[in-house]
Amino acid sequence: MSKVTLKGLNSFGIAASCSDFVRFSSETEIQAWLTKNKNNSEQLFIIGGGSNLLLIGHVPFVLLQADVQGVEYIEQGNEVLVTAGAGVNWHQLVMETLDKGYYGLENLSLIPGNVGAAPIQNIGAYGVELKDLFVELEAIELATGDKITFTHQECDFAYRYSIFKGQYKGQYIITSVTLRLSKTPDLKLDYGLIRQELEHLSEDQITPKNVSDAVIKIRSGKLPDPNELGNAGSFFKNPIVDEVIYTRLKAQFPNLVAFELPDGRFKLAAGWMIDQAGLKGYRLGDAGVHKKQALVLVNYGDATGKDILQLARYVSQKVKQKFGVIIEPEVWILGEESW
Ligand code: EPU
Repeated sequence: MSKVTLKGLNSFGIAASCSDFVRFSSETEIQAWLTKNKNNSEQLFIIGGGSNLLLIGHVPFVLLQADVQGVEYIEQGNEVLVTAGAGVNWHQLVMETLDKGYYGLENLSLIPGNVGAAPIQNIGAYGVELKDLFVELEAIELATGDKITFTHQECDFAYRYSIFKGQYKGQYIITSVTLRLSKTPDLKLDYGLIRQELEHLSEDQITPKNVSDAVIKIRSGKLPDPNELGNAGSFFKNPIVDEVIYTRLKAQFPNLVAFELPDGRFKLAAGWMIDQAGLKGYRLGDAGVHKKQALVLVNYGDATGKDILQLARYVSQKVKQKFGVIIEPEVWILGEESW
């Protein structure tokens, strides 16, 4: 089978190839393709918008992408159920819902990628995660072509995790996602710089649109635009440690940035640790640690997947040396090497 080039299909802008790439615009197209190819022995892999992927060399898979469009709204009193196709651009959905006066997604403004990928890693930002608004999703099972609905509970959401990264990895292609939004704002202002960004307004004046604008401003100030500098957002997850480790680290590093979780464990800011390890702005050829947000790795032009991986391993090793904590990738690594 011929090779398909993937440079334009991943936000890192990395040259890579795969055995084949198929984009579908409807569920029936997916089902028809699966029936036709059921005796094909090639391994299949599902990609979303390509904004959370590190591709390395040749990926010996057929990549499938559900580019289902369309958004439907069902009003239920003060609430609204929003069902969006997997191929809808996430940020466009956030903007459209805000324009219609349906609230809840404002803190998740400007996250790259498509709706279908959002549940897989339970996207989150500024104190809100997809799981807070999620109702259900529809997916096609690759093995059978059956259409299956997954409820909130069945998705098993956790920090940057769902069952589609665990037990069901690679088995379902998500075609649509349903969220519950509200006509009454319930603003989440307590994360990071949001309040600071809105300090010119009194609390009762603040609208969801103001919050979205603030998030867009904060994100654009720190996170590189993939159209200008290849990247996949946060490269690493923030590691979660128990109280004993947290207390020891806090004594040794009083400025340690950490958030206590409801279960009593602590999420440490990996970006802060990488920064403290002296690596912000560090470069290895065309692979670099972003100058403004150390959790983000960037491609200055011609970095290969291997270059980025080599840098990531170096960063992880330095953080382990300084803090004794292991940081792991948040992005999917696909191709000739793995983490
Ligand atoms: N920090 C530094 N130096 C750095 C980077 C961060 O000191 O180079 C400090 C910051 O000052 C802050 C703390 O570390 O005190 C946390 O930084 P930030 O608020 O930027 O958030 P983050 O933990 O680095 C997470 C998400 C982002 C999300 C932001 C805001 C993960 C892996 N990343 O980053 O998500 O936008 O919080 O909610 O959880 C993504 O997943 O791709 C992503 C960008």
